[in-house]
Amino acid sequence: MAELSFSESNSVQRVVERVDRHAESPLHDFMLPIIEHVHKLIRETRPTHADWRKTVEFLTEVGHASDGRRQEWVLLSDLLGVTALIEEINTSRPKGATPNTVRGPFYRADAPRLPLDANISLDGIGAPLWVTGKVCDLDGQPIAGATIETWQANSQGFYENQQPDQQPEFNLRGVFTADAAGSFRYRTVRPAGYTVPSDGPVGLLLGDLGFSLRRPAHLHFLIKADGFETISTHIYDSSDPELGRDALFGVKQELVATLKPRGKADECSLDFTFVMVRAKKGRRAP
Ligand SMILES: [Fe+2]
Repeated sequence: MAELSFSESNSVQRVVERVDRHAESPLHDFMLPIIEHVHKLIRETRPTHADWRKTVEFLTEVGHASDGRRQEWVLLSDLLGVTALIEEINTSRPKGATPNTVRGPFYRADAPRLPLDANISLDGIGAPLWVTGKVCDLDGQPIAGATIETWQANSQGFYENQQPDQQPEFNLRGVFTADAAGSFRYRTVRPAGYTVPSDGPVGLLLGDLGFSLRRPAHLHFLIKADGFETISTHIYDSSDPELGRDALFGVKQELVATLKPRGKADECSLDFTFVMVRAKKGRRAP
């Protein structure tokens, strides 16, 4: 006769035996270890009824704080390093190739295509920054025609889609095409670091626990070329004192660059080479 009782020692087995092993759900293989790990966690941490009630209340608040414009669940995943870990597992690259990092919530897929040398600062507010760069393969061969998509915060640390009433649409965004030498160049302003949303349940809880909610100053890039793995990454300003405490765990040594003084007092320049890896068959772009 099958076991009827549910106990601490057989809890995983009692739940897992309910899963239809022939069910054709994409979650099938993922759910079994989740059940096992959650039960193990509960056995080890031994929460009281009140502890568990508070946990459920927190998760409920996270759900209520999420809507079409705000994704508190993604923020929770980001701040706990889960998003960065998933990025590591899925997009590790050979030495010398530009690594991927989390894309973040401020990307827009409809940014305008611009000619080389264009200025993406549509309001001209901030210290001028001249960006030059090159896209090449692991052998150093230029990739002509690569697409370079960039987006960044302004000099106050805000993206244009956070301030639709204060910044021109598509401010500090643009899509460029590398020339025959794989080079690109454009003008912008120096971005400031910023704080991730701190007024929701995730920011409040993790802020109380001492988590950093700051992101050091950076530029976002999405680099695409036929036959190569898409690169979605950041370039970080080496002078930012919060480089070691990025809330999203996106900083890697290879992605830190120095913004060099250029000409007039507050002008600076940045030069960076993106190194792409040939796409493997069957491997999807992130
Ligand atoms: Fe960002």
